[in-house]
Amino acid sequence: MCGIVGYVGSQQAAPLLLEGLARLEHRGYDSAGVAVLGGTGLRVHKGAGRVHALTDSLPKRFAGRTGIGHTRWATHGPANDVNAHPHTDGKGLVAVVHNGIIDNAAALRAELSDDGIELASDTDTEVLAHLVARSSAETFEAKVAEALGRVEGTYGVAFLHVDFPEQMVVARNGSPLLVGVGEKETYVASDLAAIVRYTTTVAHLEDGEMALLTPAGFSTYRLESSGLAASPRTASRLDVDPDAYDAGDHESFMHKEMSEQPTTARRVLSGRLDERFGTGHLGGLNLDPRDLRAIRRVKILGCGSAFYVGQMGATLLEELARVPADAEAASEFRYRNPIIEPETLYVAVSQSGETIDTLLAVQEIRRKGGRVIGLVNVVGSAIAREVDGGIYLHAGPEVAVASTKALTNMFLAFAMLAIQLGRVRDLSIADGRRLIAALNALPEQIEQVLATEDALAETARRLAGAESLFFVGRVRGYPVAREGAQKFKEISYRHAEAYQTSELKHGPLALVSPEVPTVAIVPDDELVERNVGALHEIDARGGPLVVVTHENVSVGDLDCERIVVPKSERELDPILLTIPLQLLAYHAALELGHDIDKPRNLAKSVTVE
Ligand code: F6R
Repeated sequence: MCGIVGYVGSQQAAPLLLEGLARLEHRGYDSAGVAVLGGTGLRVHKGAGRVHALTDSLPKRFAGRTGIGHTRWATHGPANDVNAHPHTDGKGLVAVVHNGIIDNAAALRAELSDDGIELASDTDTEVLAHLVARSSAETFEAKVAEALGRVEGTYGVAFLHVDFPEQMVVARNGSPLLVGVGEKETYVASDLAAIVRYTTTVAHLEDGEMALLTPAGFSTYRLESSGLAASPRTASRLDVDPDAYDAGDHESFMHKEMSEQPTTARRVLSGRLDERFGTGHLGGLNLDPRDLRAIRRVKILGCGSAFYVGQMGATLLEELARVPADAEAASEFRYRNPIIEPETLYVAVSQSGETIDTLLAVQEIRRKGGRVIGLVNVVGSAIAREVDGGIYLHAGPEVAVASTKALTNMFLAFAMLAIQLGRVRDLSIADGRRLIAALNALPEQIEQVLATEDALAETARRLAGAESLFFVGRVRGYPVAREGAQKFKEISYRHAEAYQTSELKHGPLALVSPEVPTVAIVPDDELVERNVGALHEIDARGGPLVVVTHENVSVGDLDCERIVVPKSERELDPILLTIPLQLLAYHAALELGHDIDKPRNLAKSVTVE
């Protein structure tokens, strides 16, 4: 959420910054801006709107070999030109870009106003530029340290100062930041995506750390109440493929990421299943069989789609490991003073590993002595570093705001965890092997679902015409319905509401009409007859029906469109029922002409509470 990039070196900064911003735009696209330090001092170019508009309007001779850039997801103040980053002190001395929220901004703004300083924007960020400009400390890093010492809140920040033309100071507290090292040039970015074309030799900053960047490299410090303490850190080379950060031949990242699912599903399963003993082989959990047997309850925490997959995971854990499990929205968890139990295994689920609500929930659990593992995609991310162990999702970079391949891998990780936990309890070796065989078959079955894209696109075009839709399912199918509704509303902007099929008659059935279609999840399981029965109640009221189901399910004389997915073991069916819902959302959004990868009002990686 919000993207930062910075450069200090021997090349012109602006083109590199703009290229980096284009790659970061999924993290915020309300406004964008760049600042460079050159022979004519500090220059800023910024405005509401997208990065391509900023690039097209860049003034000629916007020269400078040190620079910072930002894409914004508005928190304080509307998305207009003035509130776009970088912010300056108004006198051409200091420029800053910032991710996060300065909690005491109002008090700092009032203090600056009392001193006769006129603030140009409504943002919390602008105060940072003034505080650095007013500092009488000698070095650039000392000025920034003094300013940040006055600040309460979260930040990833990068500063330029006209008196230090070949330097940049960056700092992190709660918002991701990494430093990249090139040949006589140094970068900073909130996400590797911004700089991956130039360098993959990076150092991740920790919370409370600051770095001074020059063309020759960087030095790191800890921000302590007594001042700055050296905290040497070296950069290391990451084994990543820069092409993984491009959409390639696909018209959008979401399409690319959906199509990658067979491959990424194989990757998350690879080497983690022990067919001989019918169990999982999840070394990263740091839990031996005795620890696993001691677990009395599992509590899963995630936000948005990660929460819904967490609900699928809870059902898997209860079914396969017979351990009580439930999922909760991480954003609510710590505010109800949760009781942390020593025999509960807490599981934090996050693609980005940076979602602040999930991170704060993890910290609350650890503060109270609980044991928490992570199901995280981004290696080395804040949540991955904070947990006691976990399962990396290996889905590769996910750029589209609507999460797809990472969620599929979350489900598969839950399945492996449930099997491993089950096998130290009362899951038999035969059942373990049966489930492993089914897991190994899933990637190909996902391919089969993806191959039905054209038919799904037709159905999606019809659904796109409805202002409002229901997504319904029961037990294993209910979180599938929730995730389906989430994807649909997120990118098509249609009102899509998820319900338990069984609950319709307790209220929402009143809304069913020929104008309100229902997408119903009807797997071939023990509830199939009741499910189909409830759908007749919708049909009888003229509600159009799309039924996501299995070949063997007979819907009798029900007037509906059927979407048939391959059958797995019933415990694993939810993931195959989810894939067509991604494609329905995608094609509905395409039909409506929306920006698939950057839906309005949203951003990837929600790093503010
Ligand atoms: C939906 C979506 C969001 C995320 C949520 C959590 O498609 O992408 O609901 O699932 O913001 O994000 P992570 O998984 O990064 O913690």
